[in-house]
Amino acid sequence: MFSLLNTLVEKNKKYGREGKVASYIPALSEANPDELGIYVVDSRGKEYYSGDYNAKFTIQSISKIVSLILAIRDNGRENVFKKVDVEPTGMGFNSIVNLEASDSGKPYNPMINAGAIVTTSLIDGKDVNEKLEKILEFMRTVTNNDDISVNERVYLSEKETGNRNRALAYFMKSTGVLDGDVEEILDLYFKQCSIEVTARDLARFGAVLANDGVIPWTNEKFIPKDVCRIVKTIMVTCGMYDASGDFAVKVGIPAKSGVGGGILATVPRKFGIGIYGPSLDEKGNSIAGINIITDLANELDLSIF
Ligand code: DON
Repeated sequence: MFSLLNTLVEKNKKYGREGKVASYIPALSEANPDELGIYVVDSRGKEYYSGDYNAKFTIQSISKIVSLILAIRDNGRENVFKKVDVEPTGMGFNSIVNLEASDSGKPYNPMINAGAIVTTSLIDGKDVNEKLEKILEFMRTVTNNDDISVNERVYLSEKETGNRNRALAYFMKSTGVLDGDVEEILDLYFKQCSIEVTARDLARFGAVLANDGVIPWTNEKFIPKDVCRIVKTIMVTCGMYDASGDFAVKVGIPAKSGVGGGILATVPRKFGIGIYGPSLDEKGNSIAGINIITDLANELDLSIF
């Protein structure tokens, strides 16, 4: 496995040059587009890695999986899906038009920004700090990494420039989909997106999902199996935004991307995979990341279909 990963990193690094690092959040524009790292954790907790697997980056939209899991844990699935649908959009992750066009008035799914702002609003806690602590504690457990924390610089950069998310949130407040203080909800959303991780952290989280919520290194049952199933299904249909269909055909693995360059993938009962490659394609997915996971899925026959 190690030599396969080394070969695939060397082969796919070049794609970094064909994309662009995110710049709409200014602090993200400092990333090195040539970096590419991959980390794989199997269902018994054995780990394999290559390239820039130790590089730190912000989790961004991959945090949408966490807020969905915590929202379901705190409210039950019926109450969550009263506020957010589970249908793909075919549009960009921060589309405004599809929010107004939605028949139900709800965001299309929890993997786009509007949907994640809703799931974030459903996390219980007395204030932003307590809710953030719950998110961080969850992340520390599924990554076996007590150092997980928020990158303050990225958080402040997001907060300063996040007007598109403000537009989505205030629109949902006006239609009654969003309850509570909009600025506080957004503050938590910006903080959760700014949590710093490595490819290793994502791979371990992916392994927990692959294992139906049982943590491979402790055998603790941490996430209910039915919640893992819901999350993995939504990752297949919506996790790679409006490239989800293409990704399902080419790769066939539940996955979630973030504009920080991360991809978390989970191969049921086999592997958790974490990838870092900050150069993005036009849909906002890691360009070298998509290429390397396509190769890995082909080499190891990982498609679930
Ligand atoms: O809210 C945003 O726009 C970012 N914090 C997260 C977006 C994101 O990662 C979409 N990913 N492809």
